[in-house]
Amino acid sequence: MKVRTDLVLKDIGELLTMGGSGAAGIGLLKDAALAVSEGRVVWVGSSSVVEDHCEVLNDTKVLSAGGKVVTPGFVDSHTHPLFGATRQDEFAMRAAGADYEEIAAAGGGILNSVKKTRAASNALLEENMKHHLSVMLSNGTTTVEAKSGYGLDLTTELRCLEIAGKVGEEVPQTVVPTFMGAHEVPEEFKGRHDEYIDYLIDHVNPRIKEQGIAEFVDIFCEKGVFTRDQAIRYLEASSRIGFLLKIHADEFYDTGGAAVAVNAGAVSADHLLSISDKNIELIAESNTVATLLPGTALFLNKPFPPGRKLLDAGASVALATDFNPGSCFCDSMPLIVSLAVCQCGFTVEEALVSATIKGAAALRLEKQKGSLTPGFDADFVIWNCNDFRTIPYHLGNPDVAAVYCAGLKVYST
Ligand code: NIG
Ligand code: FE
Repeated sequence: MKVRTDLVLKDIGELLTMGGSGAAGIGLLKDAALAVSEGRVVWVGSSSVVEDHCEVLNDTKVLSAGGKVVTPGFVDSHTHPLFGATRQDEFAMRAAGADYEEIAAAGGGILNSVKKTRAASNALLEENMKHHLSVMLSNGTTTVEAKSGYGLDLTTELRCLEIAGKVGEEVPQTVVPTFMGAHEVPEEFKGRHDEYIDYLIDHVNPRIKEQGIAEFVDIFCEKGVFTRDQAIRYLEASSRIGFLLKIHADEFYDTGGAAVAVNAGAVSADHLLSISDKNIELIAESNTVATLLPGTALFLNKPFPPGRKLLDAGASVALATDFNPGSCFCDSMPLIVSLAVCQCGFTVEEALVSATIKGAAALRLEKQKGSLTPGFDADFVIWNCNDFRTIPYHLGNPDVAAVYCAGLKVYST
């Protein structure tokens, strides 16, 4: 029986379904076609036989990709787009020799953004987030995780997550809000980290849960921010009330954050610039996705994360931007894919898998996003090239021709 379709994209030179075994799982089909019905992929196969398998009705849109490359849209599984103001002043200070951690210790960094975010109107926060999501879309990103964490009080954190939800309904992309009240200790709790964790556990997390505005929580486990023990306590309490877990782990120092993530059953452990060899093995044997953010290493001039080692150990590795106003003001997944290839030892195929289906796994969306096989959401990018290796090869200037979300064209050049 033929499948019903409302969109058929033919003459795809190279279709990366991400549903394959071999060659890192990109599932490459040449001279392919892709059929969509009601926002989902219903058939993929050879362009020459599409009519044998798909019912093309009068109102079915039939398009030619003209031999171009088609991939799933990128899944950016780690971003911080809810902030009141950018921090190019700190960027310039770093360029002149100051260190990221010194700036943070002197009241800059996250706390600087907290001041600006608390003072910002909802309209401004919404406008900023929408602007950056539109830039992400033009770079081929169709699913975006969005962390709060520049409010650090109940009112502002709720406001930010509500805005993330609202923006998610208004932009073409799928937005996954994450509660990151444990991003830093706010001024009013200065030096009282444990009390702040108690405040989150007792007063904030239950409200966020009750309102159903975030599925994940995240915590910054780092020297000078939250300790291993505080992270364990926070994650356990969050898990008990039904949150899924993420953790900023081993970014600047090896504080054992990756092990905390594995033991707590976290969906992902993110950053991992300083992960130990022992914990590489541990994460590789677990179900926790290792999310690497090489843009942050570039932006802060830190060593790149050990991508090759994690891949060789058999870890499930995702790539994301970490888009935020301080440590990585970068909204481009194609640039992240290039950095993974050029600086972290990924093959082109591995980097594209990590930026799509593995990113989806880091959001527990691996059955819905990041692949172009039947049943998955028809979120895809048509690239202005006929060889998929061009995507990371063209550094800093993505060749995006068009972006589709749920089978609808939402961006084109
Ligand atoms: O993921 N590491 C912690 N948080 C952000 C940085 C936030 C900031 O500097 O504003 C990150 O890199
Ligand atoms: Fe981050």
